[in-house]
Amino acid sequence: MTAPSDPVLEAESDAASVDRAMLDEVLDGLTAPRKTIASKFFYDARGSQLFDAITELEEYYLTRAETAVLQQQAAELAARIGPGATLVEFGSGSSVKTRILLDALSGLSAYVPIDISGDHLDAAAKRLAADYGLPVIPLHADYHAPLVLPPQVPRDTLVGFFPGSTIGNFEPEEAVAFLTRLRSFLGDGARLLIGADLQKDPARLEVAYDDAKGVTAAFNLNLLERFNRELGGDFDLEAFRHEAHYDVDLGRIEMHLVSLRDQTVTLGGRRIAFAAGETIHTENSYKYTLESFAALARRSGWRGEASWTDPENLFSVHLLIAD
Ligand code: AVI
Repeated sequence: MTAPSDPVLEAESDAASVDRAMLDEVLDGLTAPRKTIASKFFYDARGSQLFDAITELEEYYLTRAETAVLQQQAAELAARIGPGATLVEFGSGSSVKTRILLDALSGLSAYVPIDISGDHLDAAAKRLAADYGLPVIPLHADYHAPLVLPPQVPRDTLVGFFPGSTIGNFEPEEAVAFLTRLRSFLGDGARLLIGADLQKDPARLEVAYDDAKGVTAAFNLNLLERFNRELGGDFDLEAFRHEAHYDVDLGRIEMHLVSLRDQTVTLGGRRIAFAAGETIHTENSYKYTLESFAALARRSGWRGEASWTDPENLFSVHLLIAD
């Protein structure tokens, strides 16, 4: 005889499979006076796919502009860095930009991609090792936390690579703390090649974060879908809309999810009330000027060696040195 299904037991086993730390963090954000969700929660499998699709959108100029700068400056970068360096990439998502550097930098000693997603990392590492005949030493780690280089990594000339303007998703003080940590991780004499999106016409920025096909909207709303699936929430996705606006004073794009009506959502056994028009703040993406980024780098113990922009001055790439 099969046991009758027991709703209490079922509820308990569902609760047991929930990531408690994630649930607690999400609940803290949603019960704060101004509701927030940390942007790191965007990147489940679906969110990562949607982000890849964002990088190919007409409106999202960042990826194209940064790729163009790296292509244009590849020879100069190679001349400045010289032979025999070890390239260490933080958050090695797609390898398109990496390949530009691997093509340009002669006689690299090794490539060390650091990423939190282990499967993705190992597959990409194998492909690059085969294509370039280069030691590729993947490090499966969260680069927001303290890092240790594997002992076999040649460390005579370390060059860090942090593309994509991901630095813009840190609060400025967090960015200084992070860059200071990279400075001590990479050590004296190291370089850091880093991309930073530039301040510009707000209309141009806002469409980059609210595209016509609705891919960025789907990326933002996927947070709620993820919480329904993984945390047992009951968000009605039709009852929220995506919003992106540029705050000129703070120099940042803010992304929000706006509640379309008065409603109550249940998550992890808690009831969370939303007023019509109330928002969940899901992301900041800071935009810099060449000067403000150089100042941020200086505060973090780095000296600007060179910086470049694309022909339209949309995006900047900085070569910093720890001297
Ligand atoms: C990952 N990061 C640099 C992106 C950005 O532009 O801030 C994330 C993103 N959010 C919406 N579109 C892209």
